Amino acid sequence: MKTLAIIGGSGLTHLRNLTVRERRVMRTPYGEPSAPMVYGLVGGHEVIFLPRHGHGHTIPPHSVNYQANMWALKECGVSDVIAVNAVGAINTALAPGTLVLPDQIIDYTYGRAHTFFGSHPEPVTHIDFTHPYCEALREVLRDGASRAGLALAPRGTYAATQGPRFETAAEIRKLERDGADIVGMTGMPEAALARELGLCYASLSVVANYAAGKVEGEIDLRTIERHLESGTTKARMLLEHAIPR
Ligand code: HPA
Repeated sequence: MKTLAIIGGSGLTHLRNLTVRERRVMRTPYGEPSAPMVYGLVGGHEVIFLPRHGHGHTIPPHSVNYQANMWALKECGVSDVIAVNAVGAINTALAPGTLVLPDQIIDYTYGRAHTFFGSHPEPVTHIDFTHPYCEALREVLRDGASRAGLALAPRGTYAATQGPRFETAAEIRKLERDGADIVGMTGMPEAALARELGLCYASLSVVANYAAGKVEGEIDLRTIERHLESGTTKARMLLEHAIPR
């Protein structure tokens, strides 16, 4: 039996279409997760919901305890994790409000606890990360989008930056030369930690804005909020139709 978890990002601290059954406070050897695990139903299917930034959206991307979050999900018996991530579009074909299903990651983060290995005296393990997202779960998301009648950009390279500031225009030009399509602050080390624990993990990225320098002017938080609202409404609809097999 599959057990699905949804990690909510910016704009998704509450799943409005979640019928809550139970909340469970978890502790892990790595500390406390971002919030209690919320058990409930989305579209009639059991899920465990975890808001990455806490219920009050108070934990910035670089301070999220990614280790505790992933460990706690594993402890709860989770097999599959859909991570919702707010992103900026480097590839301008991905307009704000678009849903993207990234297939690759480039990690530019630093100083984050990025592995479960090394804290115990055990042999070093190198995980394969050639394809960082779980293909079976990506297919579930593609199917969910088509059942919900929603457009979903089927691939893209996610650049994970440190934040919490947005990037400079030159940084975005560099990420573009590196081959990135979207940029966000929470994609790593979450995806790698999930892989270390053997979790099937995929990202549903919601475009909140054009990345720095991609359009005239500065990045405006009010505009981001507006696009996030329309993007996360679509993400919620998609999640109602995403059922791991
Ligand atoms: N950059 C980094 N992270 C983001 C952005 C961005 O432009 N938009 C939403 N999350």
